[in-house]
Amino acid sequence: MKAIIGGTGIDRDSRFYENAISTVNRYGEAIYSIKDDIVYLPRHRPGHRLPPHRINYRANIAQLRDLGVTDVISIYAVGSITKLIAPTRFGIVKDFIDFAFGRENTFYDGAGDVVRHVPMIDAFDRELSAAFVATAAMEGFPIPANAVYVTTNGPRFETSAEIEAFRRIGGDVVGMTLGTEVALLREAGIRNASVAYSINWAAGLDAEGMAFMEGESIMKMVSTVIGLAEKTLGKI
Ligand code: HPA
Repeated sequence: MKAIIGGTGIDRDSRFYENAISTVNRYGEAIYSIKDDIVYLPRHRPGHRLPPHRINYRANIAQLRDLGVTDVISIYAVGSITKLIAPTRFGIVKDFIDFAFGRENTFYDGAGDVVRHVPMIDAFDRELSAAFVATAAMEGFPIPANAVYVTTNGPRFETSAEIEAFRRIGGDVVGMTLGTEVALLREAGIRNASVAYSINWAAGLDAEGMAFMEGESIMKMVSTVIGLAEKTLGKI
């Protein structure tokens, strides 16, 4: 079984709520849909009801594991720090820096489990990432494959000084969810490729202040990315 995890904008796509199933596993509630052998998991729940720091990441990823999911393409709305992925564009994430805090962010929290420290040097599956890049190129979207994603805790946006600091330490895009989610996918042994699509310049980079893409344009981009994810997962 394969899965697509979607976030802001994506959870308004009908594939993510049409046949919603709500389950409770040992970590709490998870909601997902299944269509044509693909699991669609809206990380903020249908209707975007949970802010990033309140998402039950462990319940979501444990559910995918319980469903026998082996491959995931996870999709993230981000702000652009560099031009690598400018607003209205998308690309593959190759590494992350995690500044989130206060979240249940591990399956190995010492509560009855063994103590384990899972390496993150291979957090993103190379083959799956390359397959997505190849599918995108074939469909006319040449995309970068090497973005560094900075995870903030949110729900507030960043200060201009924070974004300047993130740029200096190598961040290309900023969001509030990837670090927590990808670490858990890695711990669960699920292959993952992450796609970031930018909906704004991060704080301090746009002379006009913070401006976001219109809902309709976001939906269009999201639908392209989901289509590419489905094609990629169908080929591997
Ligand atoms: N910052 C954090 N998360 C985001 C942003 C941003 O500018 N845009 C979309 N998600």
